[in-house]
Amino acid sequence: MSPPNSLSPDFYDAELRAHHEHLRAAYRIRPGDEVLDIGCGTGLTTREAARAAAPGRVVGVDVSERMLERARQVAALERLDNVRYVRADAEVHRFSPAGFDVAISRFGTMFFSNSAAAFGNIAAAMRPDARLLLLVWQRHNDNEWARAIDAALGDAAQPPKPGADAFSLGDAEATAGILEDAGFDDIRFEDVHEPVFYGHDVDTALAAVRGFHDTTAALATLREDEAARTVERLRTMLAAHHSDDRGVVLDSRSWLVTARRRC
Ligand SMILES: C[S@@+](CC[C@H](N)C(=O)[O-])C[C@H]1O[C@@H](n2cnc3c(N)ncnc32)[C@H](O)[C@@H]1O
Repeated sequence: MSPPNSLSPDFYDAELRAHHEHLRAAYRIRPGDEVLDIGCGTGLTTREAARAAAPGRVVGVDVSERMLERARQVAALERLDNVRYVRADAEVHRFSPAGFDVAISRFGTMFFSNSAAAFGNIAAAMRPDARLLLLVWQRHNDNEWARAIDAALGDAAQPPKPGADAFSLGDAEATAGILEDAGFDDIRFEDVHEPVFYGHDVDTALAAVRGFHDTTAALATLREDEAARTVERLRTMLAAHHSDDRGVVLDSRSWLVTARRRC
């Protein structure tokens, strides 16, 4: 999964609902906590954090104004007055030093061009002993959804570009090293083995997968007839993962990473 382009703003909330329960169980945000949500997208996690942290404040940061617009809309509808959304690149944004008690992210930290620098920047924004909670994909090959989409795309599948690799934190040992160097201790990885949900029917799932940045980029390299055949292969693959009771679901593996800012 790459940063979204043509996806519906709330796509991830449906896609990731099973994963989300793991993150939610681990939050342990307390009233009065100051919370940072990194790559907050449309802000489901930001809003949940805001409810748990009140009267503490929550800041959601994202590079996408489109996602933030939606996030602001929903926060206003839900009358949450302790949430602020900032358009910012978490890798380099100048946060107030040591301001946050908790930093969370649901699949929003894999797209940094320099993960070491980015987590160093995030660590500097956290108080000593502050908690970090991340959901990130495990490696490409551990994720059926990624293997299946790439197989359907065939030769058109594009190698990930720096800053657009959804699996950049998939190697637990390497990620632990990055976090340790950035100033985190007590780094733990919980294996989250849950399906991704792409829609109740195959047409919806196909539209979603065609909206993934990597799919759009791959299809754009093909002649019209090749692209049409590739889309049919995607459709066949998604149909093979469809059932009436579950919709279109594919297997996935992610890490729930927890750590503490070194004192
Ligand atoms: C897969 S989406 C997840 C969004 C949201 N956390 C959710 O679970 O619904 C990844 C998000 O990270 C954002 N993002 C990517 N790189 C970022 C960066 N360097 N700083 C801030 N946000 C970033 C993207 O714009 C996108 O909204």
